[in-house]
Amino acid sequence: MDATSTLTLTSPAVGAEDGKLGGALSRVDGPLKVCGQARYAADFHLPGLTHATLVQSRVAAGRLRAIDTKSAEAHPGVLLVMTFFNAPRLPEGGQAGIKPPAGRTLSLLQDDRVHYDGQPIAVVVAETLEASRQGARLLQVEYDQEPPQLDFEAAKAQAHPPKEAQGQEPDSRRGDVEAAWSQAAHRLEATYTTPLEHHNPLETHATLAAWDGDQLTLWDSTQYVHGVKQTLSQRLGLQAEQVRVVSPFVGGAFGSKGSAWSHVVLAAMAAREVKRPVRLVVERTQMFGPVGNRPFTQQQFRLAADGGGQLTALEHRVHAETSRIEDWIEPSALISRFLYACDNVATTHRLVPLNVGVPTFQRAPGEATGSFALESAMDELAHQAGLDPLEFRRRNHSDFDAGQQLPYSSKSLLACYDQGAQAFGWSQRNPKPRATRRGDVLVGYGMATATYPAKRLASEARATLLPDGHVRVQCGTHDLGTGTWTLLTQVAADRLDLPPARIALEIGDTALPMAPVSGGSMTAASAGAAVHAVCELLRTHLAELAVTDEASPLHGVPHELIELREGRLRKTDEPGRGETLESLAARHADIDLQVNVRATPGPDAEKYSKHSFGAVFVEVHVDADLGEIRVPRIVAAYSVGNLLNAKTGRSQLLGGIVWGLSMALHEHSLRDPRYGRIANANLGEYHIPVNADIPDIELIIVPEDDPHIGPLGAKGIGEIGITGVAGAIANAVWHATGRRIRDLPISLDSLL
Ligand code: MOS
Repeated sequence: MDATSTLTLTSPAVGAEDGKLGGALSRVDGPLKVCGQARYAADFHLPGLTHATLVQSRVAAGRLRAIDTKSAEAHPGVLLVMTFFNAPRLPEGGQAGIKPPAGRTLSLLQDDRVHYDGQPIAVVVAETLEASRQGARLLQVEYDQEPPQLDFEAAKAQAHPPKEAQGQEPDSRRGDVEAAWSQAAHRLEATYTTPLEHHNPLETHATLAAWDGDQLTLWDSTQYVHGVKQTLSQRLGLQAEQVRVVSPFVGGAFGSKGSAWSHVVLAAMAAREVKRPVRLVVERTQMFGPVGNRPFTQQQFRLAADGGGQLTALEHRVHAETSRIEDWIEPSALISRFLYACDNVATTHRLVPLNVGVPTFQRAPGEATGSFALESAMDELAHQAGLDPLEFRRRNHSDFDAGQQLPYSSKSLLACYDQGAQAFGWSQRNPKPRATRRGDVLVGYGMATATYPAKRLASEARATLLPDGHVRVQCGTHDLGTGTWTLLTQVAADRLDLPPARIALEIGDTALPMAPVSGGSMTAASAGAAVHAVCELLRTHLAELAVTDEASPLHGVPHELIELREGRLRKTDEPGRGETLESLAARHADIDLQVNVRATPGPDAEKYSKHSFGAVFVEVHVDADLGEIRVPRIVAAYSVGNLLNAKTGRSQLLGGIVWGLSMALHEHSLRDPRYGRIANANLGEYHIPVNADIPDIELIIVPEDDPHIGPLGAKGIGEIGITGVAGAIANAVWHATGRRIRDLPISLDSLL
């Protein structure tokens, strides 16, 4: 395969059952990955390839006065130093096509303003990576500094509401919170915070940009090839058809790669200047700034219940950081609008702009942070009301989404509570905090509810019967490491009753039919539905071809009596009569063997509130003298509609739980309050769990049949795994120690 052709992948031969939906088909891309043959964006090579280094501002606010580029330009191998002073001017100052998720407010060297430490201010292109790095070091930058705003509490005075919170109103109100609060038997008023965090997928962002005349091709590590194409063409003043984006493999993304950040456009600009392909790999340290983050949130809660343990008032007020150049809200309070039954609910979201990089989607944006606060508050109030925290949640279970005023398409949360509690042994829990001890270790049990919306967007797909009887399936979606290659192969194999080895799948390229962003846990539901529909259509189309073809043994048979089984079209009630797909294909041209669909959510979509739910139970051990926290055991039960692949689906949920533990105990980007620089911008000091930190995790999938969610019955599993986990751990830490920690991450010093 050369660099410019679209990658086609076919499963190794496996048993037919593995290819059925719900089967544990192994990754079809697995052999390529373990052999080092899967090519990620930075692995592609083109003749004349050059290397770019992104240069960042070292001040948080001000103007660029001058950049002395002479020594850099004189360095052997350096081809271009592109700064504000010489960069080509873009339409609308580089601000055309701002439309999240793909189109964000970027720093494209169009003006001399500096808005945050880490902002891109130059690109150095050279013959080698070493020369470009050395060139970057040789730049002499002079700034006119201004005092940056980095003080969250001070800036809160000017906080403002976002235009929307993930498509919903930023504020909500039902009932009368004040009246209910004043009459309540039990009341909790508490403030929770979650820290600034940075995405650190194994593969950092990377782009390879190559021009062929006025045609631009980008090999980009992205969650949204069609979105990158759209926004890049607008930034650069091109027609959309002039841009192609290729992304066959992505080494983790988690929301940060849902947007085309500055480096993507800068690589394209630089490639046009040097008239050669440019590869720009964002360095690990550069992941902490110009490519998104999960912003710091401060969440103020008032939660009240009556004497019977029914919630009567809930107020959830969120203040979240954003940058000075773009409003982006972490919508932490959305979850509080529906998760529990409560008649009096008020939620608000406010933005606190600082001189920091633009925040963005990070795995379960809103739900991950919001569930920590809500589930902690529920635990605190349960204790106050003298109720077991699980019992308290059961009493406040809601059968109806009172926020959206819609019934649920399906909801199996009570079964998740029951099965999770049973497997965990929740009934063994001594309700008294700091009362369970094994030697020097304080033992705590905690639990929380997990939830994430089940979303779906329109997607297109194409299917073609090939002469050898294989079926080529094409869809411009992505595999972020999540298993899309495998899952779509499975959907097609299942629909067509073919072994997975006869599906030739193509994804990750704008040359393929349009698919939405692979974010919001909706790739299976969106692209999966399109592949499902296109295979269904191919089957009826081929049956039609056969019955109208005089050369076919099926000629004249009513097409509704034709079925496709094991690679043969045959008459339902006379299975001996029929022909193989190869024989049919031999008589027809490629174009006659091809079908296209655009699959959109049905009219049911607006009539229901659609969510996955789950329950997380954790055991923590806290060293009574040292405060060291270990998590020896997690049991989590989820209801996610159909689990489409038993193996990759499980991995998705496990990965989410691991990140939840990381959020609870490890991750924290430390920003210097004077200069706005991230002090731990590396994986040595930005802590994430290692294998020894991760316990046995027991997963329970509660079977669930959802007739409204889409043709596959799948609700999405990418993000629910992270939700609830930090709350469950904080609750378990409280149960172990009697100490309520309301600020993440929970570190041992907070327990001493
Ligand atoms: Mo996800 S944060 O929508 O990639």
